[in-house]
Amino acid sequence: MCGIVTYLGKQQALPLLLEGLKRLEYRGYDSAGIAVMDGQPVRLMKSVGKISELEARIDPVKFNGTAGIAHTRWATHGKPNEANAHPHFSCDRKLFLVHNGIIENYLPLRRELEAAGHKFVSETDTEVLVHLVEANKKSGLDLTAAVQHALRRVVGTFGIAVLDQDEPGVIVVAKRGSPLIIGIGNDEILAASDVSAFVRLTKQVVYLNDNDVATLRRGDYSIVSIEGPAEVEREVETVDISAEALEKRGFKHFMLKEIHQQPDTVVNAVRGRLLPEEGVSRLGGIEPVLERLKSARRLSIVSCGTSFYAGQYGRYVFEALTNLETDVALASEFRYRSVRFDEKSVVLALSQSGETADTLAAIREAKRKGALVLGIVNVVGSSIAREAGAGVFMHAGPEIGVASTKCFTSQSIIMVLMALLLGRYQNLTFNEGLRILRAIEEMPKHIQDMLDRQEQMLEIARKYHKAKNFLFIGRKYNYPIALEGALKLKEISYVHAEGYAAGEMKHGPIALIDESFPTMAVVPQDETYDKMISNIQEIKARNGKVIAVASEGDREIRKVVDDVFYIPRTLDLITPLLAVIPLQLFAYYTADLHGREIDKPRNLAKSVTVE
Ligand code: G6P
Repeated sequence: MCGIVTYLGKQQALPLLLEGLKRLEYRGYDSAGIAVMDGQPVRLMKSVGKISELEARIDPVKFNGTAGIAHTRWATHGKPNEANAHPHFSCDRKLFLVHNGIIENYLPLRRELEAAGHKFVSETDTEVLVHLVEANKKSGLDLTAAVQHALRRVVGTFGIAVLDQDEPGVIVVAKRGSPLIIGIGNDEILAASDVSAFVRLTKQVVYLNDNDVATLRRGDYSIVSIEGPAEVEREVETVDISAEALEKRGFKHFMLKEIHQQPDTVVNAVRGRLLPEEGVSRLGGIEPVLERLKSARRLSIVSCGTSFYAGQYGRYVFEALTNLETDVALASEFRYRSVRFDEKSVVLALSQSGETADTLAAIREAKRKGALVLGIVNVVGSSIAREAGAGVFMHAGPEIGVASTKCFTSQSIIMVLMALLLGRYQNLTFNEGLRILRAIEEMPKHIQDMLDRQEQMLEIARKYHKAKNFLFIGRKYNYPIALEGALKLKEISYVHAEGYAAGEMKHGPIALIDESFPTMAVVPQDETYDKMISNIQEIKARNGKVIAVASEGDREIRKVVDDVFYIPRTLDLITPLLAVIPLQLFAYYTADLHGREIDKPRNLAKSVTVE
């Protein structure tokens, strides 16, 4: 939530900062701002709306300078307007600061600073930070020390960057609970909330730890803790993301590109991890904790959003393949439950970004209470990846579209591998294991087959896109897919959609059904088929329209429903990972027919780093 990028070097900062902001726009995009410095007074521009609107307002001639900080905002405190946009500035307009996170004690701090004469111009929590730094500078400290002192007063989370007109060769950055990464170039240095902001310039990075304060200079940096004067060492790592991977490559939207990447991302998720000769999987990331995992009794999957629905699918999988008692919890609710942990408890965090604040908070709590914490994460170097005791990376490449697609299938398939690995030490036979592996190997071909028929989904979307409400139903493995299909539709097309367990229809939602309220039914020919057909009949009897996602060759279904999209046949356990593809396409096309901003839906952000 919110994105930060800073540049200090030998090139003009403005174009690099704007480019970085565009890469970070997935983190929030309701307003943006930039401050550039070059010996002369700092130049500042803020704008409501997207980065392109900010860019249009800036005269590059006036904004020359080789140092700068920039920010794209997802509002928490205060409306998206210019005053609330970052950078915020001190009373003497010499200090400029951008922030990602939430300052929980901002109200008492603001009252104290106002009493001391500081003038506030925004409604944000952030503004107290710049005034606190100013107050500390007035007492004679240099910028780094002033930031350290200021942050000692703060309760909450932050990634910040500060520019000081009195110290033109320096940018100070710091973090606690929000990501911040330094990029080390040739005589130039950058920092950002996500490496994608600067990966074109450098792949050499330093991941800051919580409570680190880094002083950046051209071609040089040093790190201290908020608390102490002593320098701390952080490892320089090389990241493995190409700038090309961030481009749309001819697709109209990143989301469509990412849907189409799934034949490849499934391969990437399982590469080197299938051992057909033993009917099992190999997951190097969890080998160090395998013994503990084998003796575990309880598994709690925690996650948010699409990752939560993947977790719901995962629960069925772990229950089917292992002896683990499995539950799945929304990370944001996990803390309110009195779950008892012991050395037999495992918590599995699912997160594309590895930065979701609720998921991070949940695993910290579980760790404190003695559970083994595992992660399935896409972004290498992210907070959850680093804080989990062990885990498995998705290797899906950057996911830019705010609505998650390819990472849903990647994290789901990795859960299948995890359950398979464990199950083979328990009751799962070689043949059962092998059948799962064979089905996984066939997935890319099956997904490609459906993508080759995407026009069919476009036709269905054309027929139904004007409906104001939608119901999605499924049973067992396909119930989470119904939930995910409904989420996709509402988040990018703004059409109201509800996902329901088909068996629950008669306990409420069927009251909504009439000819204007269509239902998407995930109805493969598995053990739930007959019951699903009964549910569909109940809808038809009330004049509801039904679109079925059904198994290839199921001719009977055509007699019952209005429209069908066929999915290839595979194991029941793997079917939902195919069924989700047409639902992603349906949401995509519906949103496109409505002319929505598909990659950046209103009010949402890709990575939610506030609780
Ligand atoms: C946000 C995104 C969703 C995502 C969720 C969880 O709400 O818009 O697409 O599923 O966060 O994110 P994570 O990175 O933890 O999987």
